[in-house]
Amino acid sequence: MIKVSHLSKHFTIKKREPGFLGSIKALVHAETELIKAVDDVSFDIKKGELVGYIGPNGAGKSTTIKMLTGILTPTSGKITVNGLDPSLNRKENAFQIGVVFGQRTQLWIDLPVEESFDLLKSIYKIDDATYKRKMEFFFDLLSMKDFFKQQARKLSLGQRMKADLAASLLHSPKVLFLDEPTIGLDLIVKEKVREFIRQINSEEKVTIILTTHDVQDIEYLANRIIILDKGRIGYDGNISNFNKLLGNESVINLHFTTGVSKLTLPKPFKVKEKISDLNYVVTGPDKEPLSTLLNGLQKSKVKIKEIQRQKPDLGEAIKKMYAGKSEL
Ligand SMILES: Nc1ncnc2c1ncn2[C@@H]1O[C@H](COP(=O)(O)OP(=O)(O)OP(=O)(O)O)[C@@H](O)[C@H]1O
Ligand SMILES: [Mg+2]
Repeated sequence: MIKVSHLSKHFTIKKREPGFLGSIKALVHAETELIKAVDDVSFDIKKGELVGYIGPNGAGKSTTIKMLTGILTPTSGKITVNGLDPSLNRKENAFQIGVVFGQRTQLWIDLPVEESFDLLKSIYKIDDATYKRKMEFFFDLLSMKDFFKQQARKLSLGQRMKADLAASLLHSPKVLFLDEPTIGLDLIVKEKVREFIRQINSEEKVTIILTTHDVQDIEYLANRIIILDKGRIGYDGNISNFNKLLGNESVINLHFTTGVSKLTLPKPFKVKEKISDLNYVVTGPDKEPLSTLLNGLQKSKVKIKEIQRQKPDLGEAIKKMYAGKSEL
């Protein structure tokens, strides 16, 4: 559905020394600096996938999304979105994609939301029956009725995001680009928006690229993540493999049927905390199978009542990678 190969976007910016003299110098002889916002990026996204496109501030995420939507033209490389090159077929591409930039609205800010939707209805030539069906779906899932008559500039951030999401989906796009769709939302609206995104993906099979700084968005929505850093891909794969690669420790809770005063564990598992003779918390690498632990415990004749392995901390793993402590 989306093919990106050797994509780069370089910006040349004028360097300017501070102060008045700096401005004069810049006029006469401007030194320039090259910013490789996106630098030789390749990936392939299949129909119906929901991919988390993440990375620290300035990594090049929004620049990628802008190229995928046709707003920016690549410096080099090739993009196809459902068979179209976005920068060459900007208009046709607009009919098959939806976009939400969480940082700014795509609605006509001086118009009531309803009128923006009317405009979109005629731009995309949506028939009355489809429009009605779509709007009922949005009203229902995003509780949009409360602010549909309100001028867009007067909406709260959460209301605005809901309106933007609905607007991006009115023409039933095959692909949806979401650039920080949950930024600044309260927990309840965030959950609503997440659930909505999930539904669009699973029921309507819309292919989604999602950019976010919220780890929970990723955990809840994405199976696959692409991590970008300084314009380059640092990781592309599923979340569980990412955790394994980073050698993350996971926490395991053990309950015994009879008391164990001193617990001996097989390597590489370690006791983290003894809660009582009947309950220990242990840690071990996420990639180490639980059978290693169970076999070891069987040998030391302790009887297990219950065992729970907690999910490794994705946020910690991502932080580690951003900080460059991990080589992938
Ligand atoms: N129009 C432009 N002119 C010059 N430099 C730009 C332009 N747009 C983006 N950049 C630079 O390109 C780099 C990548 O920016 P981009 O907005 O893609 O980052 P991002 O990953 O979306 O970051 P964030 O998480 O903060 O939104 C930054 O260094 C930014 O300053
Ligand atoms: Mg951005």
